[in-house]
Amino acid sequence: MIQIKELSKVYNSEEGQVVALKNVNLEIEAGQIFGIIGPSGAGKSSFIRCLNLLEEPTEGQVIVDGQDLTTLNTKKLRKARKKIGMIFQNFNLLQSRTVADNVAFPLELAGVDKEQIRVKVDELLELVGLADKTNNYPAQLSGGQQQRVGIARALANDPKLLLCDEATSSLDPQTTDSILDLLKDINHQLGITVVLITHEMEVIKQICDKVAVLEKGSIIEEGETIQVFTNPQHDTTKRFVQSVINADIPEEFYERKSVIEPETGKLIKVSFVGKSVKEPIISNVIKECDVDANILYGNIDKIQETSFGILLIEITGNNFSVKQAVNYLEEQNLKIEVIRNDRDVRTVS
Ligand SMILES: Nc1ncnc2c1ncn2[C@@H]1O[C@H](COP(=O)(O)OP(=O)(O)OP(=O)(O)O)[C@@H](O)[C@H]1O
Ligand SMILES: [Mg+2]
Repeated sequence: MIQIKELSKVYNSEEGQVVALKNVNLEIEAGQIFGIIGPSGAGKSSFIRCLNLLEEPTEGQVIVDGQDLTTLNTKKLRKARKKIGMIFQNFNLLQSRTVADNVAFPLELAGVDKEQIRVKVDELLELVGLADKTNNYPAQLSGGQQQRVGIARALANDPKLLLCDEATSSLDPQTTDSILDLLKDINHQLGITVVLITHEMEVIKQICDKVAVLEKGSIIEEGETIQVFTNPQHDTTKRFVQSVINADIPEEFYERKSVIEPETGKLIKVSFVGKSVKEPIISNVIKECDVDANILYGNIDKIQETSFGILLIEITGNNFSVKQAVNYLEEQNLKIEVIRNDRDVRTVS
């Protein structure tokens, strides 16, 4: 749906040139919720504003549904932009207009007739849960409610694409959740592609199918959210991931390793993604291999519908059974790490 090719953005300011985006290439499929995360100053706002040409790219192409927006004249660009809605961190509502009139605004600009506008506005306010606030003014609403007005307004021209510029950054966590749920509903029910930028990994975790990490104007990592969370490559990505999930086993649980007999016991860290967590791995290993298995620590998390996590298991039994159990676990498509105990190390040296 969107192809970004060799996109660069350079600002000319009084202090000289600022390179905000460097040769960014990215594809965003229709129907996805695509998140772009990065630290402050990474170029996120520049990037999302280049997607609808609110900011003119210095170089490169922004192709939406086969049409390169950078080549369009003003009239054609205006038409193309109708199919791209946008919401903002500070909502950008017209303070002197009521909720209904804010939502009606883009329809008025498009020359839609009054009765049609009324019907559409009612429908949109119903969709965002604000049917009872039609005649209120923005100042009479909470932040979350104001963002709902922003969303209704962005949907007025039936866009195919919704751009969200830090849409939840000025909201409290609970309100953030409700706005993210709404965005997810809009994506599912109306099939609108959503591109969002954020500096909060929690936002990515909650609703994004795919994520790209932007740093100093370049994309340093991208992929399915579950892949990036469970197997981050770049240090910046790792830091972002660690801010919301704890993929490490607390040190105190490792202390068990000093008392396990290396011949008859093993301490094993199991990492899993997706379906394997639902399978009774532990009870199977006990049955199949004639060992005892004890879960010392477990941490399971979820990215939308996919579970992932870690377990620390102590396996005990006779030497042969323990080896068999380790093999069994390795065959289950799980990431297995046998934690060496102190005497293991001594045996090796
Ligand atoms: N209009 C402008 N003129 C000059 N420099 C700009 C302009 N807008 C942004 N920049 C610079 O471009 C770089 C990227 O800014 P941008 O706002 O895109 O980052 P960001 O990732 O959105 O940051 P934040 O998380 O703080 O919002 C920064 O160095 C910024 O100072
Ligand atoms: Mg920004």
